[in-house]
Formats: sequence, structure tokens, C-alpha cells
Amino acid sequence: MSYFRSLGLQKEPFSTSPDPAFFFLSKEHKAAFCRLQITISLRRGLSVILGDVGTGKTTLSRRLSQILHKDPDVSFHMILNPYFKTEKQFLTKLAGLFHLEVSPRMSGLQIMEAIERHLFQLGVEQNKTVVLLIDEAQILPDFVLEILRILLNYETNEFKILQLVLVGQLELLPRIRSMHNFWDRIALRYVLNPLGEEELREMVDFRLRQAGFQGDHQLFTDEAVRKIWEATQGYPRKLALLCHNCLEALVMYDRKLVDSDTVARVLETTAAADMMFDLEPQK
Ligand SMILES: Nc1ncnc2c1ncn2[C@@H]1O[C@H](COP(=O)(O)OP(=O)(O)O)[C@@H](O)[C@H]1O
Ligand SMILES: [Mg+2]
Repeated sequence: MSYFRSLGLQKEPFSTSPDPAFFFLSKEHKAAFCRLQITISLRRGLSVILGDVGTGKTTLSRRLSQILHKDPDVSFHMILNPYFKTEKQFLTKLAGLFHLEVSPRMSGLQIMEAIERHLFQLGVEQNKTVVLLIDEAQILPDFVLEILRILLNYETNEFKILQLVLVGQLELLPRIRSMHNFWDRIALRYVLNPLGEEELREMVDFRLRQAGFQGDHQLFTDEAVRKIWEATQGYPRKLALLCHNCLEALVMYDRKLVDSDTVARVLETTAAADMMFDLEPQK
């Protein structure tokens, strides 16, 4: 039997995969999400969402993808791991996302022209909002940023034809800041911050409920939540890992409630394990 079933849950509540079903709208995530949706619907062009590792960027991107895929006026495309060695490799990927036929004999310029024609057809003739979201954008090479800059220039009198959403870690900021003509084009800039203590409690409860918890008591005491907040500083990924380990400990020691002792014990065990494997503390 799965460990979580013995706790009255149907699903794993604290998996660290960015499952949109577990997306909790904290103040930060809500603000980023709403502003992003507005900027996209107004077809303003470039949005940049930044945040440390584990603040929820990929989860947010997947949720957006889920919503925009259902919108018949939107053509949504996402690149999750933007590792490209050449301009042509990137352009071929982009053409593939747009379902364009490209032959290996075509030059980069020809592919770019095919993409621009397609964008015009879709964005102007069919009046669709074309969105390209790139996650982990901090690893984008400069030549890709340059191509994106050219595509962002593509506009009518009223709107930009491509809605580009760059999602990445904070080191992306100085790079785009130093790129002439990129920085001024940003319509939305948002930095995702970690959660406060109160919201951490709400996220824990939300994820437990999404996993099917129906108990009339709380699985985590307030003291436990405080300790979790102190240990994670509100970073959702750290929070998910720690809560998962706490629930495992409950099952292991056949207990019903995560209290501050459980959290302390789990923290000690993980610190000891990290030391044994000579690891940096888990993020
Ligand atoms: N708004 C949120 N609601 C619920 N869980 C979240 C949220 N944001 C992040 N998480 C959890 O935190 C972990 C890391 O999130 P992720 O989106 O991968 O972060 P990032 O892409 O910023 O590194 C995942 O386990 C995810 O489930
Ligand atoms: Mg991510």
C-alpha cells in the first residue's frame, strides 16, 4: 500500500514535480499569473518572470499552458529546456513547434522567413494570440536572444505578433539588461518571491486537500509549520521535500500528526544524510 493511503490520501501530496493540479495561488503566484495573462491578452509582446530555483516558475508555466491550450483564440507553445548549439537548431525547433515543414537544406534565413510568414498568417490574418513560453531562459545563448529580439520587432500598429514569455533564474536579468533593444521591450517584469509563513500553512493544507485529505484535524501542527517555514524560508520546492519526508516519518513511526519534533527529527536525518553523501543541502 502506498504510504499516503494510510494517511487517508488518494495521491501523493508533496511530490516535487510541477503538477498543475497542485498549483496553489499564493499572493505571489496569483499576481504573476494574472499580470501575465493580462499582458498576453493585450498582446504587449515580452514578459519576463524571474525567481530563484524552487520558487514555482515551472509549475506556474505548466498551469498557464493548461489554461491557454484550451483557449481557441490562443496558439500556445512552450520550450522547457532551451539548450541550443546553433541558430539553425533553434530555428528548426521553433518551426517544428509551429508545425512548419522545413528541410535540412533550408538556410537559417529561409526558416526565419517561413516562421515570420506563419506568424503573420496566424497572428494577423487569423487574429490569434501566438504565445511562446521559454522556461529556464537563463541558459539561452545570446544568438537565441538575438533571434527572439528580431521576432519581437514583428508588430502591427496595435499589437505585437509574438507573445514571448521568458521564465528563468535571476541571472537572466543582467544579461537582458545589457542587450540593447531588449530591455526596453519588456512589457511585464515579475520576480517570484518565496512564501510567507501564513501562506506556507495554506499551501500545505491546499496540497493535502488536493491529495484527498478529508480529516477534520490538521496533519501538521502550527509549531510544525513554523519549523518548516524556518527551515525552508518559504521556498515551495524545499517545502514540498520537507513535508514529504515528514509524512514518511509519520508512517514509519506509526504516528498520526506531524509536530515540531517530527520536523526536527526529519531535519536532523536529512542533514546527516547530506553530510554522508557530501551533498549541498537539498534545494
Ligand atoms: N504555487 C505552487 N503551488 C503548489 N506547489 C508549488 C507551487 N510553486 C511551486 N510548487 C512546488 O515547488 C516545487 C518546485 O517548483 P518549480 O515550479 O519546479 O520551481 P522552479 O521552476 O521555480 O524551480 C514543485 O514541487 C512544485 O510542486
Ligand atoms: Mg523550473
